[in-house]
Amino acid sequence: LAAFFTPKRLQGQHVLVTAGPTFEAIDPVRGITNHSSGKMGFAIARAAREAGAEVTLVAGPVHLATPRGVARVNVQSARQMLEAVQARVGDASVFVATAAVADWRPAEFSDQKIKKDGSGDVPALAFVENPDILATVAQSERARSGQLYCVGFAAESHDLLQHASAKRKRKGVPLLVGNIGPATFGKDDNALLLIDEHGSKELPHASKAVLARQLVEDIAQRLAARGA
Ligand code: CTP
Ligand code: CA
Repeated sequence: LAAFFTPKRLQGQHVLVTAGPTFEAIDPVRGITNHSSGKMGFAIARAAREAGAEVTLVAGPVHLATPRGVARVNVQSARQMLEAVQARVGDASVFVATAAVADWRPAEFSDQKIKKDGSGDVPALAFVENPDILATVAQSERARSGQLYCVGFAAESHDLLQHASAKRKRKGVPLLVGNIGPATFGKDDNALLLIDEHGSKELPHASKAVLARQLVEDIAQRLAARGA
């Protein structure tokens, strides 16, 4: 009922969200991934939709229900995620990158399952770096001209403010959000640190659903302040 009376702060906006891990195949039966649950990204997609936005959610492999009214695109690899984002970001006004994109993928994919050959030798896996989806989008003309507002997340294990501030500049985004505290993957609650060009502010410990609404409200205020 509360949502019914809440002003639709993001009416007329198209919010594109990435969420979850990516899966980088080694062969038809194996691959590398990570423990991202996708919960924060799904909560943000839901909150943005409740705030009146059109929402597109590009999700890696996670078993989470699609929030009502949200258009979902499922992908596996980082390259598929980039392709799906680029195909849909053209008319987006906000891009929120929460996905835990695999930094590297196996340099080669084996069409056939890699078999033990009985010698005890192990396969030598080589890796190549994946494209940086957030940095790629942030460098686009629409992002640079202010038509597309980009928000990144930072996974840091230590010195959050310092690392996340540096990451914000490196990625070229106006807003970077850090998870405060130890491993948040899979948990239902969290605390966030919002870092912009002026400094940082904390969204104290709460459920991911509550934090997502607060973050969406914060983004709406930033858009309004820019006259969007
Ligand atoms: N990101 C992305 N594509 C990648 C890697 C990261 O879009 N290939 C996005 C994430 O979704 C997140 C932000 O970039 O919004 C920061 O991700 P993070 O893993 O913290 O930063 P990296 O630049 O990958 O640096 P590192 O993992 O070495 O700290
Ligand atoms: Ca990374």
